[in-house]
Amino acid sequence: MENSEQLKTVKFYSGDATPLEMHKVRVVQKLNLLPIEERRDCIYGAGFNTFLLMNKDVFLDMLTDSGTNAMSDNQVAAMSQADDSYAGSASYTRLEKAINEVFGQKYFLPVHQGRAAEHIIAKVFATPGKVVPMNYHFTTTKAHIEMAGGVVEEIYTDEALKIKSDFPFKGNMSIPKLLNVIEKWGAENVAYIRFEAGTNLIGGQPFSMANLREVSAIAKEHKIKVLMDTSLISENLYFIKIREEGYQDKSLKDIMHEMLSYTDFSYFSGRKVSSTRGGGICTNNLDIYMAMRDLVPLFEGFLTYGGMSVREIEAMAVGLYETLDFNVISHSPTFIKYLVDTLDKKGIPVITPAGGLGCHLDAKNFIDHVPQGQYPAGALAAALYVASGIRGMERGTISSVRDAEGNDILADVELLRLAFPRRVFTLSQVKYAEDRILWLYENRHLIGGLEWIEEPPVLRFFVGKLKPIGDWVEKLVAKFREDFGDSL
Ligand SMILES: Cc1ncc(COP(=O)(O)O)c(C=O)c1O
Repeated sequence: MENSEQLKTVKFYSGDATPLEMHKVRVVQKLNLLPIEERRDCIYGAGFNTFLLMNKDVFLDMLTDSGTNAMSDNQVAAMSQADDSYAGSASYTRLEKAINEVFGQKYFLPVHQGRAAEHIIAKVFATPGKVVPMNYHFTTTKAHIEMAGGVVEEIYTDEALKIKSDFPFKGNMSIPKLLNVIEKWGAENVAYIRFEAGTNLIGGQPFSMANLREVSAIAKEHKIKVLMDTSLISENLYFIKIREEGYQDKSLKDIMHEMLSYTDFSYFSGRKVSSTRGGGICTNNLDIYMAMRDLVPLFEGFLTYGGMSVREIEAMAVGLYETLDFNVISHSPTFIKYLVDTLDKKGIPVITPAGGLGCHLDAKNFIDHVPQGQYPAGALAAALYVASGIRGMERGTISSVRDAEGNDILADVELLRLAFPRRVFTLSQVKYAEDRILWLYENRHLIGGLEWIEEPPVLRFFVGKLKPIGDWVEKLVAKFREDFGDSL
Protein backbone atom coordinates (compact mmCIF):
# COMPACT_ATOMS: atom_id res chain seq x y z
CA MET A 1 0.00 0.00 0.00
CA GLU A 2 1.32 3.43 -0.89
CA ASN A 3 2.06 5.80 1.97
CA SER A 4 -0.65 8.22 0.89
CA GLU A 5 -3.27 5.47 1.07
CA GLN A 6 -2.62 4.47 4.64
CA LEU A 7 -5.37 5.20 7.10
CA LYS A 8 -2.94 6.68 9.58
CA THR A 9 -3.77 10.06 10.99
CA VAL A 10 -1.67 12.34 13.16
CA LYS A 11 -2.61 12.15 16.82
CA PHE A 12 -2.10 15.20 19.01
CA TYR A 13 -0.40 14.70 22.41
CA SER A 14 -3.16 16.82 23.97
CA GLY A 15 -5.74 14.36 22.67
CA ASP A 16 -7.48 17.09 20.64
CA ALA A 17 -9.22 15.88 17.48
CA THR A 18 -7.54 18.60 15.43
CA PRO A 19 -7.52 18.11 11.66
CA LEU A 20 -4.08 18.71 10.18
CA GLU A 21 -3.33 20.12 6.73
CA MET A 22 -1.12 17.68 4.80
CA HIS A 23 -0.04 20.38 2.35
CA LYS A 24 1.57 23.78 2.54
CA VAL A 25 0.28 26.99 1.05
CA ARG A 26 2.47 28.52 -1.66
CA VAL A 27 0.10 30.85 -3.49
CA VAL A 28 -2.33 32.98 -1.52
CA GLN A 29 -5.22 35.29 -2.24
CA LYS A 30 -5.96 38.33 -0.11
CA LEU A 31 -9.29 38.29 1.70
CA ASN A 32 -11.55 41.17 2.54
CA LEU A 33 -13.77 41.32 5.62
CA LEU A 34 -16.16 44.25 5.41
CA PRO A 35 -17.71 45.91 8.48
CA ILE A 36 -21.16 44.54 9.29
CA GLU A 37 -22.98 47.67 8.06
CA GLU A 38 -21.44 47.18 4.61
CA ARG A 39 -22.28 43.47 4.69
CA ARG A 40 -25.88 44.44 5.41
CA ASP A 41 -25.92 46.78 2.40
CA CYS A 42 -24.38 44.07 0.23
CA ILE A 43 -27.01 41.48 1.10
CA TYR A 44 -29.78 43.99 0.32
CA GLY A 45 -28.03 44.69 -2.99
CA ALA A 46 -27.88 40.97 -3.72
CA GLY A 47 -31.61 40.50 -3.11
CA PHE A 48 -30.87 38.27 -0.11
CA ASN A 49 -29.48 35.72 -2.52
CA THR A 50 -25.89 34.72 -1.74
CA PHE A 51 -25.36 33.76 -5.40
CA LEU A 52 -25.66 37.45 -6.24
CA LEU A 53 -22.98 38.68 -3.81
CA MET A 54 -19.73 39.80 -5.35
CA ASN A 55 -16.70 37.85 -4.18
CA LYS A 56 -14.86 41.02 -3.13
CA ASP A 57 -17.59 41.50 -0.49
CA VAL A 58 -17.22 37.96 0.85
CA PHE A 59 -14.76 36.86 3.56
CA LEU A 60 -15.00 33.05 3.43
CA ASP A 61 -16.61 31.83 0.24
CA MET A 62 -18.35 28.64 1.32
CA LEU A 63 -20.98 28.82 -1.42
CA THR A 64 -19.66 25.76 -3.18
CA ASP A 65 -16.64 23.64 -3.97
CA SER A 66 -17.53 23.88 -7.64
CA GLY A 67 -14.53 25.28 -9.49
CA THR A 68 -13.13 26.67 -6.22
CA ASN A 69 -10.98 23.79 -4.94
CA ALA A 70 -7.28 24.63 -4.68
CA MET A 71 -5.19 23.20 -7.49
CA SER A 72 -2.00 21.33 -6.73
CA ASP A 73 1.45 22.40 -7.91
CA ASN A 74 1.41 19.42 -10.28
CA GLN A 75 -1.88 20.53 -11.82
CA VAL A 76 -0.61 24.04 -12.42
CA ALA A 77 2.64 22.65 -13.87
CA ALA A 78 0.73 20.35 -16.22
CA MET A 79 -1.13 23.33 -17.68
CA SER A 80 2.09 24.58 -19.22
CA GLN A 81 2.40 21.50 -21.45
CA ALA A 82 -1.04 22.05 -23.02
CA ASP A 83 -1.15 21.08 -26.67
CA ASP A 84 -3.37 23.62 -28.37
CA SER A 85 -5.13 22.01 -31.31
CA TYR A 86 -8.78 21.74 -32.25
CA ALA A 87 -8.58 18.05 -33.11
CA GLY A 88 -6.35 15.28 -31.79
CA SER A 89 -4.66 17.30 -29.03
CA ALA A 90 -2.03 15.38 -27.05
CA SER A 91 -3.58 16.93 -23.92
CA TYR A 92 -6.79 15.09 -24.72
CA THR A 93 -4.91 11.80 -25.11
CA ARG A 94 -3.40 12.31 -21.65
CA LEU A 95 -6.89 12.94 -20.22
CA GLU A 96 -8.28 9.84 -21.90
CA LYS A 97 -5.47 7.81 -20.33
CA ALA A 98 -6.31 9.27 -16.90
CA ILE A 99 -10.02 8.39 -17.35
CA ASN A 100 -9.00 4.89 -18.27
CA GLU A 101 -6.59 4.43 -15.36
CA VAL A 102 -8.57 6.20 -12.62
CA PHE A 103 -12.13 5.15 -13.48
CA GLY A 104 -11.34 2.03 -15.49
CA GLN A 105 -13.48 3.34 -18.36
CA LYS A 106 -12.48 3.22 -22.00
CA TYR A 107 -14.68 5.65 -23.91
CA PHE A 108 -14.86 9.32 -23.02
CA LEU A 109 -16.97 12.27 -24.17
CA PRO A 110 -15.65 15.64 -22.95
CA VAL A 111 -18.12 18.42 -22.07
CA HIS A 112 -17.81 21.93 -20.69
CA GLN A 113 -19.19 21.08 -17.23
CA GLY A 114 -21.35 18.56 -15.35
CA ARG A 115 -24.73 19.89 -16.43
CA ALA A 116 -23.70 19.64 -20.07
CA ALA A 117 -23.23 15.90 -19.53
CA GLU A 118 -26.67 15.83 -17.88
CA HIS A 119 -28.14 17.63 -20.87
CA ILE A 120 -26.78 15.11 -23.37
CA ILE A 121 -27.59 12.03 -21.28
CA ALA A 122 -31.15 13.21 -20.59
CA LYS A 123 -31.74 14.18 -24.22
CA VAL A 124 -30.74 10.72 -25.41
CA PHE A 125 -32.20 8.48 -22.72
CA ALA A 126 -34.71 10.33 -20.48
CA THR A 127 -37.28 10.84 -23.22
CA PRO A 128 -41.06 11.30 -22.68
CA GLY A 129 -42.62 8.27 -20.95
CA LYS A 130 -39.37 7.33 -19.21
CA VAL A 131 -38.50 7.47 -15.56
CA VAL A 132 -35.15 7.97 -13.86
CA PRO A 133 -35.01 6.58 -10.33
CA MET A 134 -32.19 8.03 -8.21
CA ASN A 135 -30.91 8.09 -4.63
CA TYR A 136 -31.52 11.85 -4.62
CA HIS A 137 -31.88 14.51 -7.27
CA PHE A 138 -29.50 17.34 -7.99
CA THR A 139 -30.99 20.65 -9.20
CA THR A 140 -29.56 20.69 -12.73
CA THR A 141 -29.99 16.92 -13.14
CA LYS A 142 -33.69 17.12 -12.44
CA ALA A 143 -34.16 20.19 -14.62
CA HIS A 144 -32.48 18.46 -17.59
CA ILE A 145 -34.42 15.22 -17.19
CA GLU A 146 -37.72 17.10 -16.97
CA MET A 147 -36.83 19.31 -19.92
CA ALA A 148 -36.16 16.17 -21.96
CA GLY A 149 -39.62 14.86 -21.02
CA GLY A 150 -38.56 12.29 -18.41
CA VAL A 151 -39.70 11.92 -14.81
CA VAL A 152 -37.51 11.76 -11.69
CA GLU A 153 -38.34 9.34 -8.87
CA GLU A 154 -36.32 9.70 -5.70
CA ILE A 155 -35.84 6.42 -3.94
CA TYR A 156 -33.79 7.27 -0.87
CA THR A 157 -33.89 5.26 2.34
CA ASP A 158 -35.62 6.32 5.57
CA GLU A 159 -32.25 7.37 6.99
CA ALA A 160 -31.51 9.84 4.18
CA LEU A 161 -33.52 12.79 5.44
CA LYS A 162 -32.95 12.34 9.16
CA ILE A 163 -30.99 15.32 10.35
CA LYS A 164 -29.41 13.53 13.27
CA SER A 165 -28.17 10.07 12.51
CA ASP A 166 -25.14 7.91 12.91
CA PHE A 167 -25.95 5.87 9.82
CA PRO A 168 -22.75 5.87 7.73
CA PHE A 169 -24.36 5.59 4.29
CA LYS A 170 -27.33 7.95 4.09
CA GLY A 171 -26.82 8.18 0.31
CA ASN A 172 -27.99 4.58 -0.17
CA MET A 173 -30.85 3.73 -2.51
CA SER A 174 -33.92 2.01 -1.10
CA ILE A 175 -34.14 -1.46 -2.65
CA PRO A 176 -37.92 -1.92 -2.00
CA LYS A 177 -38.60 1.50 -3.58
CA LEU A 178 -36.45 0.58 -6.59
CA LEU A 179 -38.39 -2.66 -7.11
CA ASN A 180 -41.60 -0.64 -6.81
CA VAL A 181 -40.56 1.83 -9.49
CA ILE A 182 -39.60 -1.00 -11.84
CA GLU A 183 -42.95 -2.67 -11.28
CA LYS A 184 -44.95 0.55 -11.61
CA TRP A 185 -43.25 1.84 -14.78
CA GLY A 186 -42.06 -1.43 -16.37
CA ALA A 187 -38.33 -2.09 -16.75
CA GLU A 188 -38.42 -0.98 -20.40
CA ASN A 189 -39.49 2.52 -19.30
CA VAL A 190 -36.69 3.01 -16.82
CA ALA A 191 -34.27 5.21 -18.77
CA TYR A 192 -31.47 4.42 -16.32
CA ILE A 193 -30.93 4.25 -12.60
CA ARG A 194 -28.92 7.24 -11.43
CA PHE A 195 -26.62 6.86 -8.46
CA GLU A 196 -25.23 10.15 -7.21
CA ALA A 197 -21.96 9.74 -5.34
CA GLY A 198 -21.76 11.93 -2.23
CA THR A 199 -25.37 13.12 -2.62
CA ASN A 200 -25.11 16.89 -2.84
CA LEU A 201 -28.54 18.05 -1.63
CA ILE A 202 -28.82 15.84 1.45
CA GLY A 203 -25.55 16.71 3.09
CA GLY A 204 -22.79 15.19 0.98
CA GLN A 205 -23.71 11.73 2.22
CA PRO A 206 -22.15 8.61 0.64
CA PHE A 207 -23.64 5.32 -0.51
CA SER A 208 -22.07 2.00 0.38
CA MET A 209 -20.48 -0.44 -2.02
CA ALA A 210 -22.89 -3.11 -0.75
CA ASN A 211 -25.88 -0.99 -1.74
CA LEU A 212 -24.42 -0.17 -5.14
CA ARG A 213 -23.68 -3.85 -5.76
CA GLU A 214 -27.26 -4.82 -4.89
CA VAL A 215 -28.78 -2.13 -7.11
CA SER A 216 -26.50 -3.14 -9.96
CA ALA A 217 -27.57 -6.81 -9.66
CA ILE A 218 -31.26 -5.80 -9.81
CA ALA A 219 -30.56 -3.52 -12.78
CA LYS A 220 -28.77 -6.34 -14.63
CA GLU A 221 -31.61 -8.73 -13.96
CA HIS A 222 -34.08 -6.23 -15.47
CA LYS A 223 -31.71 -5.08 -18.24
CA ILE A 224 -31.68 -1.51 -16.93
CA LYS A 225 -28.64 0.72 -17.27
CA VAL A 226 -26.91 2.16 -14.20
CA LEU A 227 -25.50 5.69 -14.44
CA MET A 228 -23.27 7.15 -11.77
CA ASP A 229 -22.79 10.86 -11.19
CA THR A 230 -19.17 10.84 -10.05
CA SER A 231 -18.87 14.58 -9.43
CA LEU A 232 -18.48 13.91 -5.70
CA ILE A 233 -16.93 10.46 -5.95
CA SER A 234 -13.70 11.38 -4.14
CA GLU A 235 -15.41 11.78 -0.81
CA ASN A 236 -17.70 8.78 -1.39
CA LEU A 237 -14.56 6.77 -2.08
CA TYR A 238 -12.99 8.08 1.13
CA PHE A 239 -16.04 7.08 3.18
CA ILE A 240 -16.17 3.57 1.70
CA LYS A 241 -12.49 3.18 2.53
CA ILE A 242 -12.83 4.31 6.14
CA ARG A 243 -16.40 3.24 7.00
CA GLU A 244 -17.27 0.09 5.07
CA GLU A 245 -16.14 -3.26 6.35
CA GLY A 246 -13.65 -5.02 4.14
CA TYR A 247 -12.31 -1.92 2.36
CA GLN A 248 -9.68 -0.62 4.78
CA ASP A 249 -6.89 -2.64 3.18
CA LYS A 250 -7.97 -2.13 -0.42
CA SER A 251 -6.26 0.49 -2.54
CA LEU A 252 -8.26 3.55 -3.54
CA LYS A 253 -7.79 2.58 -7.15
CA ASP A 254 -9.27 -0.88 -6.60
CA ILE A 255 -12.23 0.60 -4.70
CA MET A 256 -12.80 3.18 -7.44
CA HIS A 257 -12.68 0.50 -10.14
CA GLU A 258 -15.07 -1.71 -8.21
CA MET A 259 -17.52 1.20 -7.85
CA LEU A 260 -17.46 1.97 -11.56
CA SER A 261 -17.66 -1.73 -12.47
CA TYR A 262 -21.27 -1.71 -11.21
CA THR A 263 -22.24 1.01 -13.67
CA ASP A 264 -22.88 1.13 -17.41
CA PHE A 265 -21.83 4.75 -17.73
CA SER A 266 -20.89 7.70 -15.60
CA TYR A 267 -20.44 11.46 -15.82
CA PHE A 268 -18.74 14.10 -13.77
CA SER A 269 -18.36 17.77 -13.13
CA GLY A 270 -14.64 18.52 -13.37
CA ARG A 271 -15.33 21.61 -11.26
CA LYS A 272 -15.72 19.22 -8.38
CA VAL A 273 -13.93 15.94 -8.87
CA SER A 274 -10.74 17.17 -10.54
CA SER A 275 -10.52 20.69 -9.02
CA THR A 276 -10.58 22.22 -12.51
CA ARG A 277 -13.45 23.13 -14.85
CA GLY A 278 -15.04 20.95 -17.51
CA GLY A 279 -16.63 17.55 -17.30
CA GLY A 280 -17.24 14.36 -19.16
CA ILE A 281 -19.18 11.17 -19.79
CA CYS A 282 -17.37 7.82 -19.47
CA THR A 283 -18.33 4.27 -20.38
CA ASN A 284 -17.01 0.89 -21.43
CA ASN A 285 -20.09 0.32 -23.58
CA LEU A 286 -19.62 1.30 -27.21
CA ASP A 287 -23.38 1.43 -27.92
CA ILE A 288 -23.93 3.91 -25.08
CA TYR A 289 -20.99 5.98 -26.30
CA MET A 290 -22.26 5.99 -29.89
CA ALA A 291 -25.79 6.96 -28.81
CA MET A 292 -24.44 10.23 -27.39
CA ARG A 293 -21.28 10.89 -29.40
CA ASP A 294 -22.69 13.10 -32.13
CA LEU A 295 -24.34 15.50 -29.69
CA VAL A 296 -20.95 16.51 -28.29
CA PRO A 297 -19.72 18.41 -31.38
CA LEU A 298 -23.22 19.90 -31.70
CA PHE A 299 -23.57 21.28 -28.17
CA GLU A 300 -20.08 21.29 -26.66
CA GLY A 301 -17.19 21.28 -29.11
CA PHE A 302 -15.14 18.78 -31.05
CA LEU A 303 -14.62 15.34 -29.48
CA THR A 304 -11.10 16.14 -28.29
CA TYR A 305 -12.00 19.18 -26.21
CA GLY A 306 -15.78 19.32 -25.63
CA GLY A 307 -15.79 23.01 -24.69
CA MET A 308 -12.81 22.78 -22.35
CA SER A 309 -9.53 24.65 -22.79
CA VAL A 310 -6.49 22.42 -23.30
CA ARG A 311 -4.97 23.89 -20.15
CA GLU A 312 -7.97 22.71 -18.15
CA ILE A 313 -7.75 19.32 -19.82
CA GLU A 314 -4.14 18.92 -18.66
CA ALA A 315 -5.02 19.98 -15.10
CA MET A 316 -8.05 17.70 -15.13
CA ALA A 317 -5.94 14.64 -15.97
CA VAL A 318 -3.64 15.33 -13.01
CA GLY A 319 -6.62 16.18 -10.77
CA LEU A 320 -8.21 12.83 -11.56
CA TYR A 321 -5.04 10.95 -10.56
CA GLU A 322 -5.06 12.95 -7.32
CA THR A 323 -8.48 11.52 -6.39
CA LEU A 324 -6.50 8.36 -5.64
CA ASP A 325 -4.35 10.13 -3.04
CA PHE A 326 -5.72 9.61 0.46
CA ASN A 327 -4.22 12.89 1.72
CA VAL A 328 -6.03 14.81 -1.00
CA ILE A 329 -9.46 13.25 -0.61
CA SER A 330 -9.43 13.12 3.18
CA HIS A 331 -8.81 16.85 3.59
CA SER A 332 -12.35 18.20 3.22
CA PRO A 333 -14.11 15.39 5.12
CA THR A 334 -11.79 15.72 8.13
CA PHE A 335 -12.22 19.51 8.31
CA ILE A 336 -15.98 19.16 7.81
CA LYS A 337 -16.12 16.58 10.58
CA TYR A 338 -14.25 18.95 12.88
CA LEU A 339 -16.83 21.73 12.36
CA VAL A 340 -19.87 19.43 12.40
CA ASP A 341 -18.81 17.67 15.60
CA THR A 342 -17.94 20.96 17.33
CA LEU A 343 -21.30 22.54 16.44
CA ASP A 344 -23.20 19.36 17.29
CA LYS A 345 -21.61 19.24 20.76
CA LYS A 346 -22.83 22.81 21.32
CA GLY A 347 -26.39 21.78 20.45
CA ILE A 348 -26.44 23.59 17.11
CA PRO A 349 -28.57 21.66 14.59
CA VAL A 350 -26.33 20.23 11.85
CA ILE A 351 -26.59 17.19 9.64
CA THR A 352 -24.85 14.18 11.15
CA PRO A 353 -22.84 12.18 10.51
CA ALA A 354 -20.52 14.68 8.84
CA GLY A 355 -20.53 14.15 5.08
CA GLY A 356 -18.26 15.14 2.24
CA LEU A 357 -19.21 18.39 0.64
CA GLY A 358 -19.67 20.75 3.52
CA CYS A 359 -21.18 21.40 6.91
CA HIS A 360 -24.95 21.61 6.61
CA LEU A 361 -26.88 23.67 9.14
CA ASP A 362 -30.46 22.54 9.66
CA ALA A 363 -32.36 25.81 9.21
CA LYS A 364 -35.76 24.30 10.11
CA ASN A 365 -34.50 23.70 13.63
CA PHE A 366 -31.99 26.55 13.82
CA ILE A 367 -34.79 29.11 13.32
CA ASP A 368 -37.88 27.02 14.02
CA HIS A 369 -40.01 30.17 14.41
CA VAL A 370 -39.63 30.96 10.67
CA PRO A 371 -42.27 29.05 8.66
CA GLN A 372 -41.05 27.05 5.68
CA GLY A 373 -43.04 29.29 3.33
CA GLN A 374 -40.75 32.16 4.43
CA TYR A 375 -37.63 30.27 3.35
CA PRO A 376 -35.70 29.58 6.57
CA ALA A 377 -32.59 28.25 4.78
CA GLY A 378 -32.41 31.40 2.62
CA ALA A 379 -32.94 33.62 5.65
CA LEU A 380 -30.22 31.80 7.58
CA ALA A 381 -27.82 32.12 4.63
CA ALA A 382 -28.41 35.89 4.57
CA ALA A 383 -28.14 36.19 8.35
CA LEU A 384 -24.83 34.30 8.44
CA TYR A 385 -23.40 36.51 5.72
CA VAL A 386 -24.43 39.62 7.66
CA ALA A 387 -23.01 38.21 10.91
CA SER A 388 -19.71 36.98 9.47
CA GLY A 389 -19.08 37.75 5.81
CA ILE A 390 -19.31 33.98 5.20
CA ARG A 391 -21.21 33.05 2.07
CA GLY A 392 -23.08 29.73 2.23
CA MET A 393 -25.69 28.31 -0.12
CA GLU A 394 -29.40 27.87 0.48
CA ARG A 395 -30.40 24.26 -0.13
CA GLY A 396 -34.06 24.29 0.78
CA THR A 397 -37.36 25.53 -0.64
CA ILE A 398 -35.82 28.40 -2.60
CA SER A 399 -33.84 25.69 -4.45
CA SER A 400 -37.12 23.84 -5.06
CA VAL A 401 -39.86 24.65 -7.61
CA ARG A 402 -43.59 25.48 -7.70
CA ASP A 403 -46.32 22.96 -8.55
CA ALA A 404 -48.82 23.34 -11.41
CA GLU A 405 -51.05 25.53 -9.19
CA GLY A 406 -48.14 27.85 -8.42
CA ASN A 407 -47.62 26.72 -4.84
CA ASP A 408 -44.14 26.19 -3.46
CA ILE A 409 -43.17 22.54 -3.25
CA LEU A 410 -41.64 22.65 0.21
CA ALA A 411 -38.20 21.04 0.30
CA ASP A 412 -37.69 17.85 2.32
CA VAL A 413 -34.94 19.57 4.24
CA GLU A 414 -34.04 23.24 4.75
CA LEU A 415 -30.27 23.40 4.74
CA LEU A 416 -27.65 26.08 4.77
CA ARG A 417 -24.66 24.45 3.16
CA LEU A 418 -21.21 25.68 4.10
CA ALA A 419 -19.04 24.07 1.47
CA PHE A 420 -15.41 23.20 2.09
CA PRO A 421 -13.58 23.64 -1.19
CA ARG A 422 -10.64 21.25 -1.03
CA ARG A 423 -7.49 22.62 0.69
CA VAL A 424 -8.71 26.23 0.64
CA PHE A 425 -9.44 27.18 4.27
CA THR A 426 -7.17 27.03 7.30
CA LEU A 427 -8.22 25.80 10.72
CA SER A 428 -8.43 29.30 12.21
CA GLN A 429 -10.83 30.29 9.43
CA VAL A 430 -12.95 27.26 10.29
CA LYS A 431 -12.83 28.32 13.94
CA TYR A 432 -14.02 31.79 12.92
CA ALA A 433 -16.99 30.18 11.16
CA GLU A 434 -17.70 28.16 14.30
CA ASP A 435 -17.59 31.29 16.46
CA ARG A 436 -19.97 33.34 14.31
CA ILE A 437 -22.41 30.42 13.88
CA LEU A 438 -22.50 30.05 17.66
CA TRP A 439 -23.21 33.79 18.07
CA LEU A 440 -25.95 33.58 15.45
CA TYR A 441 -27.49 30.57 17.16
CA GLU A 442 -27.62 32.41 20.46
CA ASN A 443 -29.34 35.30 18.68
CA ARG A 444 -31.49 33.17 16.41
CA HIS A 445 -34.74 34.67 17.72
CA LEU A 446 -33.80 37.89 15.89
CA ILE A 447 -33.79 36.22 12.44
CA GLY A 448 -36.97 36.52 10.35
CA GLY A 449 -38.21 35.22 7.00
CA LEU A 450 -37.93 36.29 3.36
CA GLU A 451 -40.33 36.95 0.50
CA TRP A 452 -39.81 37.15 -3.26
CA ILE A 453 -39.42 40.38 -5.15
CA GLU A 454 -38.22 38.79 -8.39
CA GLU A 455 -38.75 35.08 -9.06
CA PRO A 456 -37.44 33.46 -12.26
CA PRO A 457 -39.44 30.47 -13.55
CA VAL A 458 -36.45 28.09 -13.93
CA LEU A 459 -33.72 27.37 -11.35
CA ARG A 460 -34.93 30.41 -9.42
CA PHE A 461 -32.30 30.09 -6.70
CA PHE A 462 -29.53 31.22 -9.04
CA VAL A 463 -30.70 34.75 -9.83
CA GLY A 464 -33.97 35.31 -7.95
CA LYS A 465 -34.25 38.26 -5.53
CA LEU A 466 -35.94 38.42 -2.13
CA LYS A 467 -36.37 40.86 0.73
CA PRO A 468 -36.65 40.42 4.48
CA ILE A 469 -40.06 40.33 6.13
CA GLY A 470 -39.85 43.09 8.76
CA ASP A 471 -36.73 44.79 10.14
CA TRP A 472 -34.89 41.75 11.46
CA VAL A 473 -31.67 42.56 9.63
CA GLU A 474 -31.38 45.94 11.40
CA LYS A 475 -31.91 44.22 14.75
CA LEU A 476 -29.22 41.68 13.97
CA VAL A 477 -26.73 44.41 13.06
CA ALA A 478 -27.52 46.34 16.26
CA LYS A 479 -27.03 43.24 18.42
CA PHE A 480 -23.72 42.47 16.69
CA ARG A 481 -22.44 45.98 17.49
CA GLU A 482 -23.61 45.59 21.09
CA ASP A 483 -21.75 42.29 21.50
CA PHE A 484 -18.63 42.85 19.34
CA GLY A 485 -18.08 46.62 19.68
CA ASP A 486 -16.09 47.90 16.71
CA SER A 487 -14.81 44.46 15.64
CA LEU A 488 -15.13 43.50 12.00
C1 LIG B 1 -23.67 16.00 -7.81
C2 LIG B 1 -23.59 17.02 -8.89
N1 LIG B 1 -23.91 16.68 -10.14
C3 LIG B 1 -23.85 17.57 -11.15
C4 LIG B 1 -23.46 18.86 -10.94
C5 LIG B 1 -23.44 19.85 -12.09
O1 LIG B 1 -22.13 20.14 -12.41
P1 LIG B 1 -21.68 21.58 -13.01
O2 LIG B 1 -21.86 22.58 -11.94
O3 LIG B 1 -20.25 21.37 -13.42
O4 LIG B 1 -22.55 21.85 -14.18
C6 LIG B 1 -23.11 19.26 -9.67
C7 LIG B 1 -22.70 20.65 -9.41
O5 LIG B 1 -22.64 21.14 -8.33
C8 LIG B 1 -23.19 18.31 -8.60
O6 LIG B 1 -22.89 18.63 -7.34
